[in-house]
Amino acid sequence: MNRGRRLRQTENIRNMVSETKINKSSLIYPLFIQEGNNIKEEIKAMPNQYRYSVDKLNFEIENLLKMGINNVILFGIPDKKDCVGTGAYIEDGIIQKSLREIKRNFKEMTCITDVCMCEYTDHGHCGILDKNNVVDNDKTIKILGKIATSHIKAGADIVAPSDMMDGRIKEIRNALDKEGFINTPIISYAVKYSSSFYGPFRDAANSAPAFGDRKTYQMDYRNRNEAIKEALYDIEEGADIIMVKPALSYLDIIRDIKNNINLPVCAYSVSGEYSMIKVGGASGIIDEDKIIMETTTSMYRAGTDILITYFAKELAKFIDEGRI
Ligand code: PBG
Repeated sequence: MNRGRRLRQTENIRNMVSETKINKSSLIYPLFIQEGNNIKEEIKAMPNQYRYSVDKLNFEIENLLKMGINNVILFGIPDKKDCVGTGAYIEDGIIQKSLREIKRNFKEMTCITDVCMCEYTDHGHCGILDKNNVVDNDKTIKILGKIATSHIKAGADIVAPSDMMDGRIKEIRNALDKEGFINTPIISYAVKYSSSFYGPFRDAANSAPAFGDRKTYQMDYRNRNEAIKEALYDIEEGADIIMVKPALSYLDIIRDIKNNINLPVCAYSVSGEYSMIKVGGASGIIDEDKIIMETTTSMYRAGTDILITYFAKELAKFIDEGRI
């Protein structure tokens, strides 16, 4: 008789045959940084996640490295916004200052930057608006090239454009190459859906659009084939890693991308996924630790190689304890 239970008898056997293993080296932790001094402020919509001022970063980075988390993605919350997102690429911008501070002390921390304009525009859209208040694609991608270059000059290791404009990977690749940064990798948020799971992030980064939504540039969640199309566009333009975002409701998409392309696949488990589990856990209705392990494992099982997650610290601990 076929007996599937033979390989489920003991924990050691189950561990030996488990198909999904999670490495700390594949985790990326998001960090929010704001202007000011001596600030470590909890984000209301994201329990146990914080906004830091630049002077408070060192302690946090040291802590992450001690836990074995060697990759962060940085999000900036500027003091001033304008209609063209100037704060995203100026030399003294919040991200540029943060990068210089982190790299002065911790060269070993891989710093990835989110390249987008929504945190820096007063209207909260991810680009420059035309006369009809629609994001002007071709003007916006020129600025994205400038933002990416300014991040690398300040010390970033990898750029991750999240704006969903067409042609931006090529524009950013050219801008970086022109400055001699031929070895800087690009993680493309190639497959980014227009999602309500970003709600808590917009509260954290103060980046909700002042009017309308992002449906003219982010993807429609009813679409699956389009994900492969978007990924192939970006690969052709020079992306080094392809991202799918969000993760939990998009496991089918992660698997499609994994099966159809030969680049590393990154998934972003976003703010709404985090906050649902935190709030559910705090209420006592679900077992928070076990739900973190099960949902995260499902993302890796679906085919992700790299995961951006607000649970990176919890996962590092679970890995140390041999629980995952
Ligand atoms: C910037 C950006 C967003 C997120 C990452 N980069 C917000 C958005 O597109 O509205 C969301 C991340 C999260 O929800 O954790 N464009």
